[in-house]
Amino acid sequence: MSWTRICKTADVAPNSVKKIWIAGGIPVLVVNYGSGFRVVPPVCPHMEEPLEESGIVASCVLTCTKHLWAWNLMTLEKQGETEKPLKCYEVKEENGELMAFVDGELLYDFDKDDDMDDDAFFKS
Ligand code: FES
Repeated sequence: MSWTRICKTADVAPNSVKKIWIAGGIPVLVVNYGSGFRVVPPVCPHMEEPLEESGIVASCVLTCTKHLWAWNLMTLEKQGETEKPLKCYEVKEENGELMAFVDGELLYDFDKDDDMDDDAFFKS
């Protein structure tokens, strides 16, 4: 694959996320952080939470509200206790269109033994 049209830049409001299916049946999450865009896999790298529901964007930071893993969207630096990097497709804007370089679907490796329960997380 190569550069793929994702959507119009106006389709995703500043400080919001939108899940989009692109050519090849690949789901992506478009993140507009105000001063730019990221196109990332649509699930949280922690426990596969759908980021179109759990993700919030504020001050150039994407936070998954499930257990508060977060990434700086400008630098991709992990914030706080976040343990895995956010995978990103390379993006560019052309004539009001957002394009991403898609060479196959970006996927995370999930540890299936990780059965962390939310009650234990919030008590600690
Ligand atoms: S599932 Fe996103 S932080 Fe845990």
